[in-house]
Amino acid sequence: MKGIVLAGGSGTRMFPLTKSVSKQLLGVYDKPAIFYPLSILMLADVREIALIVNPHEKQAFIDLLGDGSQYGIKINYFVQSEPRGIADAYNVVKNYIEGESSMMILGDNFFYGYELPKRIRKAIENNKGATVFAMQVKEPKRFGVLDIKDPNLPPRGIVEKPAHPPSNWAVTGLYIFDKDVTKYVNELQPSTRGELEITELIDIYLKKQNLKVEYLGRGTAWLDTGTPDGMLSCASFVKTVEERQGFKIACLEEISYRRGFMTLDQITSQVKKYPNCSYRDYILQVLEAT
Ligand code: DAU
Repeated sequence: MKGIVLAGGSGTRMFPLTKSVSKQLLGVYDKPAIFYPLSILMLADVREIALIVNPHEKQAFIDLLGDGSQYGIKINYFVQSEPRGIADAYNVVKNYIEGESSMMILGDNFFYGYELPKRIRKAIENNKGATVFAMQVKEPKRFGVLDIKDPNLPPRGIVEKPAHPPSNWAVTGLYIFDKDVTKYVNELQPSTRGELEITELIDIYLKKQNLKVEYLGRGTAWLDTGTPDGMLSCASFVKTVEERQGFKIACLEEISYRRGFMTLDQITSQVKKYPNCSYRDYILQVLEAT
């Protein structure tokens, strides 16, 4: 199972914040935004990850994340020269994932919820064709939406940013696809907005009766960091939860240790080299308590 984090895009919605910095590198409370989707792949035990970035932002991501070995994962960088759509990710990483299933997450998506990692790991295990994760939202017009009356029955369709949403079930930015995805992406034509739409790729699986929908309940938080308001809401959420519990959300070193990607000694000696800061103190304290 390969992982993909899609962190390209033009970032125009956040200008001038994103004039010189990728939106996925901006801070969301106490970490760069990219840590949150990356943590979801790690919690799902996906350790071989393609990070898709803009040509001019690649070096900044490398400066932050390197080859991933400090988290016990392997990150390979791929450049998407223009934002040709979310499904275009599969053209970019075609050779990398050849013959394997993959889990893709959008770089501006944030997930948090009780037993969510377990649920995602199960979904990977059980995936046949494609699996998507859906959540009810107040403004479905902003998302890919499922045409669904009864969650016990297969959806009747899926539509991107509909003017008249057929339901309030939005498709979140977390997807599992089998190895055939690179073949199906060739069947797509650019939409009226000039993008290869992820919803059309999902629709191919739906029509083949090979789509599974995981309906996430109200106890899950699904937010996005891709607008100034979204960033602020997400930062407040992270701060509130972290302050109350004393545990950090998306601390990659902690996840690496807890999932057994790295040993206590490996993590400890690495973290001791970090500058003196609360992030370092936190990790050392967590490691000491285990
Ligand atoms: O967040 C879930 C929604 O994400 C889904 O419900 C929609 O079906 C899906 O199309 C997508 O909608 P957005 O309008 O949020 O997509 P956006 O264009 O903002 O892109 C999401 C992320 O993907 C963002 O971090 C930038 C990155 N991206 C996007 C495009 C179009 C790329 O890296 N390359 C691209 O070509």
